[in-house]
Amino acid sequence: MHSRARLDAATGGFDPPFAIVDLDAFDHNADDLVRRAGGLPIRVATKSVRVRALLDRVLRRPGYAGLMCYSLPEALWLSDTDTAEDLLVAYPTVDHAALRALAADATARRRVTLTVDSVAHLDLVDRALGADHPEIRVCLELDVSWRPLPGLHVGARRSPVHTPHQAAILARAIARRPGFRLVGVMAYEGQIAGLGDAPPGRPALGAVVRWMRRRSGAELAARRGAAVAAVRDHADLEFVNGGGTGSLETTRTDAAVTELAAGSGLVGPTLFDGYRAFLPQPAVLFALPVVRRPTRDVATLFSGGYIASGPTGHDRAPTPYLPAGLELMAFEGAGEVQTPVVGPDAAALAVGDRVWLRHAKAGEPAERFTHYHCVRGTAVEETVPTYRGEGRCFG
Ligand SMILES: Cc1ncc(COP(=O)(O)O)c(C=O)c1O
Repeated sequence: MHSRARLDAATGGFDPPFAIVDLDAFDHNADDLVRRAGGLPIRVATKSVRVRALLDRVLRRPGYAGLMCYSLPEALWLSDTDTAEDLLVAYPTVDHAALRALAADATARRRVTLTVDSVAHLDLVDRALGADHPEIRVCLELDVSWRPLPGLHVGARRSPVHTPHQAAILARAIARRPGFRLVGVMAYEGQIAGLGDAPPGRPALGAVVRWMRRRSGAELAARRGAAVAAVRDHADLEFVNGGGTGSLETTRTDAAVTELAAGSGLVGPTLFDGYRAFLPQPAVLFALPVVRRPTRDVATLFSGGYIASGPTGHDRAPTPYLPAGLELMAFEGAGEVQTPVVGPDAAALAVGDRVWLRHAKAGEPAERFTHYHCVRGTAVEETVPTYRGEGRCFG
C-alpha cells in the first residue's frame, strides 16, 4: 500500500492530471515475475507497458529477453531506436506500408518476427512485397482455447490452428514457401492467464474459474506439446512462447515452452488483483484534481473516464486508490470531463487536493498521458515519455 502523503510530497510540483510509475513497485514486480517464471526467460508484452524507458529498464534485468510487440509499425520503431534486437509481433499484420518498410530494412528483418496463423497471411505478404521478397521471419500461432464440447469455446478468438495436425499442415506450407522462415510458435492461453481465479468478493465465480483453469490446463498440456513436436518436423524453432502474467506458474511447467510472455505484472493494474498465486504492487497510478464539492459528501475530480478495453463492466473502470475508501458513483461512473467520488474521506477533500486512481489495465494509461513521472521514495527521479508522448499511436 502506498502512502498518500509520500506520493503527494514526491509530486507536489506537478499539476494533476498526471501519471506516475513507482519505480520501487515496478522493480519489485519485475523481480517477482522472474521468480514465478522459474528459470524461463520472459519476453515483455509491450502493449502492457507502452513506455520505451520502462521497456529499457526491464530488459536490462536478468530474466528478461526480447519484446512481444502488438503492431509491426511499433516493432520497426523499436528496432530503429535499438530498444531490442528480438521483436516478435504477436498479432497478425496486414499493413502493406509497414511490410514494405520491413522488407527494405536488413536490420529489422533480422530482428522482427511476424505472427501468422494461415496461408492467407503468407499470401498477403507476397502480394505486398512481390513474390521474390527477402526472407521474412514468421511465428506460427496455435489456438490454445479450451473446447470441451462441440460448439463450446473457452478462450480468445485468435488462431484457427487448433490441432497438432493443423499445425503440421501450416508449418509444412511455410517451410515450402520461398521468402519465409518459420522460427517460432506462440500459444497464449488467455482463458488461464487473463482470468483471475480469486475475483474479490465473488468466491463462487472464483471456484468456477479455478475448475476451468485446471481442466483447460490439463487438455493443453498434451496438445501444445504435440503441436510443437509436429511443427518441429518442418522447422528449426528458435522459441516456443506461452503464457502471460496470470499463468507463469503453470505455463512454465510445459516442457514444450521455451519462453514466457508477461507485461501486466510489471504494472499491477486492478484486473490483476484477483489471482491466488500472486499479487503485483500497483506501480502505475494517476492523480486527478478535486475541482469542486457539489455536496458535503461528494468530491468531483477533473477528467477520469479512462475505461479499459474488454467486456464492458464495472471492473473496466478506474478505481479510486488514495485516500482509501473512495468510490465512483453508480449513476455517473468515471466521466469524460468530471468524475464524482464518494466515501468516508470525500468530506475532507478540498478543491485543489488530488485523488490517486488505478487503471484496470496495464498499458492503457499510457494512451491517456504523454509522460510518466518516475517516483522513487519521496522524489521524482525523472520524467519519461509514453508512446503517446513520443507522438506514437499504434492502435
Ligand atoms: C500473445 C499474448 N501473450 C501474452 C499476453 C499476456 O500479457 P500480460 O502479461 O500483459 O497479461 C497477452 C495479453 O493479451 C497476449 O496477447
